[in-house]
Amino acid sequence: MRTRITQMLGIDFPIFAFTHCRDVAAAVSSAGGVGVLGAVAHTPEQLDVDLKWIRERTGGRPFGVDLLIPRKYAGKDEGGLGAADLKSMLPDEHRQWIDALLERYGVPPMPGEAKTERVDRKLAVDPKSMAPLIDVAFEHGIGLFASALGSPPAWLVERARKEHVPVAALAGRLDHATAHRDAGVDIVIAQGTEGGGHTGEIGTMVLVPQVVDAVAPIPVLAAGGIASGRQVAAALALGAEGVWCGSVWLTTHEAETTPAIKEKFLAATSDDTRRSRSLTGKPARMLRTEWTDAWDDPGAPAPLPMPLQSMLVADAQRRIYRLAHQPDSGARRLVTYFVGQVVGQMNVAKPTRAVVGEMVEEFLDAMERLDGIIAQQ
Ligand SMILES: Cc1cc2nc3c(=O)[nH]c(=O)nc-3n(C[C@H](O)[C@H](O)[C@H](O)COP(=O)(O)O)c2cc1C
Repeated sequence: MRTRITQMLGIDFPIFAFTHCRDVAAAVSSAGGVGVLGAVAHTPEQLDVDLKWIRERTGGRPFGVDLLIPRKYAGKDEGGLGAADLKSMLPDEHRQWIDALLERYGVPPMPGEAKTERVDRKLAVDPKSMAPLIDVAFEHGIGLFASALGSPPAWLVERARKEHVPVAALAGRLDHATAHRDAGVDIVIAQGTEGGGHTGEIGTMVLVPQVVDAVAPIPVLAAGGIASGRQVAAALALGAEGVWCGSVWLTTHEAETTPAIKEKFLAATSDDTRRSRSLTGKPARMLRTEWTDAWDDPGAPAPLPMPLQSMLVADAQRRIYRLAHQPDSGARRLVTYFVGQVVGQMNVAKPTRAVVGEMVEEFLDAMERLDGIIAQQ
């Protein structure tokens, strides 16, 4: 396949994989696409190890790193608050409501002292705390840097330019896309509401052509609701130069998705997701479970702003995850994770490489079919 994006990155297929799993990232890059490691919860040391691991397995093919650099978050005016300051901002009412919920579902407290370092990192969302991760990313010769929830700051764009690394940013609305253009990004990722994770309200079919026109000549990747070759063909028909997929990798053999979640995803239909603020404070699409239903209940407290909500639910999530493997447990009924509407297409666990291969093959079939639609004179 040849688009402006395949030429920009020197890749065979304009298929990008957002993933938290280094095995998936390496497999997609090796298969001719680009694996992009979501690194917001990494420590700089972990990121160093993972990027080295990916580099050793991708034979010079490009891979990327993705970080969340939110536009709005609690503590922004103070220049970013530490975990202790943020923790003191959690209302008792919210904590008590969660404790009562878990008690109702028979989910006990964690035994002993739980390790919190990884979770605390996840909560540190201010750009300052991202700086060491950004340093590590550039040290490893990444082929792409992506950011979500806001335009990348000028210092980051400048640094990437110096290092000859293209910068991409996710947009769920037209004004986000034009702000990214004005910030100097090289690629805009237009993500429709169908997508897993933080997502807006506009569908991919509507958003992508608007973004393509508004940011031209900057190339656009389409995201949200793309997990098959026919959907790739549709995205390219909308004017995108490639696709950015997140959900489809979650049920691959390589994915680090926990078994309980994988099972739920394989069984779910496209009607089984909800946009919910219950995990991070910002609307994110995830599997609908009794957890999301509880937060949608009129008696539930309003979710807190980012990063307070993640902090509020971190311990509850650990407790739920610890027991979610038990069939018929309350934890199993509550457990949820980010996923998009394509979850209804994800019915069989497959190797990552096969997912890429099937996407390309189905894309070719779709193109042939479309070709045949044009009446010959
Ligand atoms: C489990 C999960 C976590 C995500 N976390 C992030 C993230 O940290 N940063 C980011 O830029 N996008 C994140 N996303 C969104 C993806 O980058 C991508 O835009 C989205 O998954 C595309 O829609 P799809 O799920 O229909 O493929 C996440 C998506 C999923 C499914």
